[in-house]
Amino acid sequence: MKMWSGRFRQELDPDFENWQRSFPYDRRLLPFELAASRAHARALEHAGVLSSEELAEIVEGLEQIAKRAESSPQFLDDPEAEDVHHFVEKQLAAFIGDTGYKLHAGRSRNEQIAVDLRLFVRAAIDEIQNLLADWIEAIIARAESAGSAAMPGFTHLQPAEPVLVAHWLLAYAEMFFRDSDRLASCRKRTNLCPLGSGAIAGATLALNRRALAADLGFDDITANSIDATSDRDFALEFVQDLEVLALHFSRWAEEMILFSTSAYDFVELPEAYSTGSSAMPQKKNPDLLELVRGKAGRIAGCATALGTAVKSLPLAYNKDLQETQEPIFYAADAITSMLPLVTGWMRSVTFNFGRMNEAAESGFMNAWAAAAYLVGHGVPSRQAHEAVGKAVRLALELKCNLEDLSLHDWRAIHPAFDSDLPSHLTLPHVLALHDVPGGTAPLRVKQAIEDARARNMLRSQEVHAIK
Ligand code: ARG
Repeated sequence: MKMWSGRFRQELDPDFENWQRSFPYDRRLLPFELAASRAHARALEHAGVLSSEELAEIVEGLEQIAKRAESSPQFLDDPEAEDVHHFVEKQLAAFIGDTGYKLHAGRSRNEQIAVDLRLFVRAAIDEIQNLLADWIEAIIARAESAGSAAMPGFTHLQPAEPVLVAHWLLAYAEMFFRDSDRLASCRKRTNLCPLGSGAIAGATLALNRRALAADLGFDDITANSIDATSDRDFALEFVQDLEVLALHFSRWAEEMILFSTSAYDFVELPEAYSTGSSAMPQKKNPDLLELVRGKAGRIAGCATALGTAVKSLPLAYNKDLQETQEPIFYAADAITSMLPLVTGWMRSVTFNFGRMNEAAESGFMNAWAAAAYLVGHGVPSRQAHEAVGKAVRLALELKCNLEDLSLHDWRAIHPAFDSDLPSHLTLPHVLALHDVPGGTAPLRVKQAIEDARARNMLRSQEVHAIK
């Protein structure tokens, strides 16, 4: 039975009918639709619309739908069901007879899809938070095992200053911590229950909205029925947060690809996550990283699709909103499928510490330390900069490193240079110089590893607590 045929005299165009269906993709909302329907049935009984026997029958019927969907997935291949709401209504009547049709009293599909999507986004956030915690832990573990290894830090992709490999890795941990925070914040605005909003104006039955919300684990109820039935901000925000997360992954992937090239040779790609070339036998390609980098574009597309779907949309529900579902699903699936893989990659990649250290020792990256030496001797920093610039020029001409210049050369450039200068230009000294919280001095990085681990543990506990 259709959900709305009463006022129609003509049959629907069959192609249109099929084209406007959302069941091919919203069927995945079935567990949420069933949970929300159970809660609604209880509210109906409480309001005196259903007898306790009818409630028991409906709950039993919903249970059977869940079991059947679980045991035989073909059950969901229903070409008649318009959407997941229609499917449940239809199957409920098939299982328990006409009592099934009583369930729709006092509710509208407009609030049903709103509640289903909120439940979907909430569950996806929880899953992604857990996977993110594993990913961040993998980064921290690699930072810990990198020990005192150094590498060049780049600005403008030019060698700038040496940094600890651990410090570089923790920079990525920070990006993903922010992503986790953003999702936690989005979850708060997502976890509000729209049930009882009706089609637009609010339910016509005395439904206990707070009980409904509590039943489904929501923190509170939505405040305005017009907004609640048309709001997709929670989904937009969720997908935008995933967009930023995916952008972070694209930066990470790009850098790993670059560092795995022979020009850098910092990163040895793990074979388990790379592929060969059908043409060139010597090739080992960074496919995982390239696909991760490529996903960012599609996920950004999802965020754009959602944003433009709600742009200029008049209140309240409009069928345009059906178009918001697939971008939500794509973005969530792309991230949840990718996270365990990048975590596996990170756990199995080999960093070529020898090569990284070697690169950290060349390229005049101790120039700032030489200038700091002069500043320590009371020379104004601008003059110190100028003097060391001249030393770099000389070293370039002599084709040597700064530490290879003679004291005589240094003194000719500035008299404040003295015989203890070479000890200030060694890699350990240069690293230790950056001794501020958040800097690359080894003791600071050791502390940063501990802090990151504590934050990640705290985050995971919070995630578990809200479940
Ligand atoms: N399948 C619809 C959607 O995803 C459900 C809501 C339909 N509401 C309506 N008034 N036609 O948006």
